[in-house]
Amino acid sequence: MMRSISSAWREAPRNRSVYSFPFVRMLPHPLAFLQLLLVASVAFAQTWKATPFVPPSLPLVVKTPYLSTWIPQGTAEGSLNSGWASFRDGSVIGWMGKLRVDGEFFNWMGPGLKAVQKDMTFTATRTIITMACGGVDLVATFLSPVEPTDLVNQSIPFSYLAVEVSSNDAKPHQVQLYTDISGEWLAQSDQILTWETIAGDTVNHRFSLQNETRFNETGGRLRDGGVMYSTKQVNGMTYQIGQDTVVRSLFETTGVLNKTVDPQFRAIGDRWPVAAFAYDLGTVGTTKTTPIVSTIGYVRYPLIALLNTSNVNIVRGPYYLTLYGSVPGMIIVLLNDYPNALARAIDFDNKLTSDALAITPQNNDYADILALSVRQLFGNIELTSGWDGTIHVPTDIMAFMRGRLTNTVDIIYAAWPAFLYTYPAIGRYLLEPILTYQANNPSQSGYSIHDIGASLYPKVTGPSNESYPVEECGNQLIMALSYTKKTSDNSLITKYKLLYDQFATYLTQNGLYTATQLSSDSYAGELGNQTNLAVKSIVALKAASEIFQILGDNSKSKQYDNVAASFLGQWQSVALSSDKSHYTLSYGNDSSWGLLYNLYADRLLGFNMFPQSVYETQTKWYATKLDEFGIRLDSRSSDAKTDWQLWTAATLTDETLRTTMITLVKKYAKSRINSGSFPDRYNSENGVMSTFEGRSVVGGHFALLLVPDVKNASTNSSGGGNNGNHGGHTGGAVPSVSPVLPMAVALSVALVYVLF
Ligand SMILES: *[C@@H]1O[C@H](CO)[C@@H](O)[C@H](O)[C@H]1NC(C)=O
Ligand SMILES: *[C@@H]1O[C@H](CO)[C@@H](O)[C@H](O)[C@H]1NC(C)=O
Ligand SMILES: *[C@@H]1O[C@H](CO)[C@@H](O)[C@H](O)[C@H]1NC(C)=O
Ligand SMILES: *[C@@H]1O[C@H](CO)[C@@H](O)[C@H](O)[C@H]1NC(C)=O
Ligand SMILES: *[C@@H]1O[C@H](CO)[C@@H](O)[C@H](O)[C@H]1NC(C)=O
Ligand SMILES: *[C@@H]1O[C@H](CO)[C@@H](O)[C@H](O)[C@H]1NC(C)=O
Ligand SMILES: *[C@@H]1O[C@H](CO)[C@@H](O)[C@H](O)[C@H]1NC(C)=O
Ligand SMILES: *[C@@H]1O[C@H](CO)[C@@H](O)[C@H](O)[C@H]1NC(C)=O
Repeated sequence: MMRSISSAWREAPRNRSVYSFPFVRMLPHPLAFLQLLLVASVAFAQTWKATPFVPPSLPLVVKTPYLSTWIPQGTAEGSLNSGWASFRDGSVIGWMGKLRVDGEFFNWMGPGLKAVQKDMTFTATRTIITMACGGVDLVATFLSPVEPTDLVNQSIPFSYLAVEVSSNDAKPHQVQLYTDISGEWLAQSDQILTWETIAGDTVNHRFSLQNETRFNETGGRLRDGGVMYSTKQVNGMTYQIGQDTVVRSLFETTGVLNKTVDPQFRAIGDRWPVAAFAYDLGTVGTTKTTPIVSTIGYVRYPLIALLNTSNVNIVRGPYYLTLYGSVPGMIIVLLNDYPNALARAIDFDNKLTSDALAITPQNNDYADILALSVRQLFGNIELTSGWDGTIHVPTDIMAFMRGRLTNTVDIIYAAWPAFLYTYPAIGRYLLEPILTYQANNPSQSGYSIHDIGASLYPKVTGPSNESYPVEECGNQLIMALSYTKKTSDNSLITKYKLLYDQFATYLTQNGLYTATQLSSDSYAGELGNQTNLAVKSIVALKAASEIFQILGDNSKSKQYDNVAASFLGQWQSVALSSDKSHYTLSYGNDSSWGLLYNLYADRLLGFNMFPQSVYETQTKWYATKLDEFGIRLDSRSSDAKTDWQLWTAATLTDETLRTTMITLVKKYAKSRINSGSFPDRYNSENGVMSTFEGRSVVGGHFALLLVPDVKNASTNSSGGGNNGNHGGHTGGAVPSVSPVLPMAVALSVALVYVLF
């Protein structure tokens, strides 16, 4: 039997750069060396228009930790049809798109190279790609909604694909559209797949696994739950589940599918079962057709296994179950809502762009960095609700963030500006499991835990043994006050005031001359007397003072205010280098320096307690430290961080330097040296990324949106940093869902299957 293109591609899915150039591919073997040269020399000359730039990896469907599909770009010319899309870890995701134009077929998604990519645009929530299929242009919009102000919407693990076509040569054409997905959306190819198709007002294809392993991520995948591919039942729509080559060639030759479902369940990679849709679009002219919409989702229940303090596994379900009783019912709403969802997404994208442009009117660099950060951040977070034995309780909300560890305090902290900008309550829901755990497990050490899950997500079994004492105590206090100021909701500080008192006490005793320990930048190693950690302590103690003032405890408030003021005075005498040119990385080491990014919190909270001279000294110093791709984190190595650079940019007293710093981060992002989902750590000299891919800390890129203008800030010490001119979606308003959350007491371990 003839081997299909698709199976050839499956065997060599990583050779994107070589296969991307048709003219290169045709070279005979003896000229293979030339082929390499050609690839190397034309790699940067992509043939389509890219707006705003070619990112290291292009988000396609990025909605949850396990619904995360990308097209790596980097040095390769990653068009929509130069190879298969990738799961976040780089493994293949089978998603095929074909268009039949007057009987001739073109592959526009997945390998095949018959359609020609003309345009690629990404925004915060969308990726829009135009493919020329002979006389017809096809525009594919990949929309992953980001609607954090609506917890139900934000928790829905579904994204949209919408396709529009139009004639590009003024002639009418007969057009049929085809797409299919493989079981790779769910697991690796050796797993046995089962499936079904349910056809009603919508047609839902569903893939699941014969052997499910709950709460056990292996090789990046969970092997749990179901992938659903759905579309509305419309005239001329046909569907099929069957072997890839059989289903695809049926479409290629006839333009319609069989409306049948292959009865033989088998491994994902055994004659590759695919779930397909085809649509007869009839005669297509120069007017764009109305969008053909499908949804792709990855549904799991429960989402999280959370060990409670008596070591009992409490399962938590997706938050949307507080509203929707069944997933198919929800899919009908989603499919009908597409035009509105698109309009809301465009509003979100435009608002973000204009807010970013208000910060850096000189160019779009800041807006572009933010656009690439949004889906990556929210795609790492799941919003859950507890089960009380009868219902999913709408007020029992916790959010979980997948990473090396779960809900790491300093990662939530790095991303905090994005929550403050979009919807501060999301940040609070991420803190909730950490604070609950600590409230129930009083710590002997007196400092904040570092995370809530040493086991790999989605098992949440309690904190790891890692400790970042000053770092996390400071982060907790700063986050608590900024949440409270932004929302005017005092419930967080009221509920956990004993912990906040404990953290402030710890900082009082340990926050100025810090013992040898890690900071958030743990890869840089331990260090004693960290100047930047002490900045955090000082701002956090001032935050503790405000927290207790809000709580009406004036004596505690005064106490922490005094400590903060005393620390600040001492800090100024030990932290400055002897030639007064810069603040050191570690007290007394004049040759050391680093980004003093924790000063950002002084601006964020509107304290402006550090003298203006500190900001000015650092600004002058950084100006002498610009490498090719930005500023390194500190004097220990050329490691640079995108998030902390943008935090630091928000502390500069010089607007030109601030714009330059942003531009250098963008230069790195668009350098095409790397291919990974927005890697946040890299070498500032050569732009080569480190291993930090797809992380939530990109939420830190929002830092500049939260502080008032630099020039104003330097003269305005009246506080109220939460009322910045560029306040985000929520402004200073109280969130629309009350964040006052009595925890449901009676959670049940019963598993409720609501899929069908
Ligand atoms: C959430 O989705 C519904 C449609 O299901 C829509 O009516 C509503 O406006 C959305 N909410 C937000 C805040 O976008
Ligand atoms: C699925 O589970 C069955 C029974 O436990 C086992 O025999 C089979 O090998 C498993 N298959 C896979 C693909 O893991
Ligand atoms: C998780 O799954 C892997 C692969 O199927 C298996 O080897 C391992 O034993 C499982 N771990 C647990 C804790 O179930
Ligand atoms: C279409 O369905 C018919 C019967 O339902 C079957 O005989 C035929 O093999 C199917 N063709 C394909 C390509 O699946
Ligand atoms: C943990 O959950 C079990 C089962 O619901 C319950 O009996 C126990 O009281 C819970 N422990 C705590 C500390 O909430
Ligand atoms: C911390 O936990 C990790 C993972 O469980 C383990 O490998 C390591 O040895 C532990 N370290 C200490 C100091 O206990
Ligand atoms: C920090 O600096 C103080 C004062 O110079 C010194 O006594 C202390 O040993 C230093 N701590 C560390 C961990 O280096
Ligand atoms: C001082 O800082 C520099 C640069 O970070 C470092 O190389 C050096 O080892 C430090 N010296 C001491 C004594 O720690």
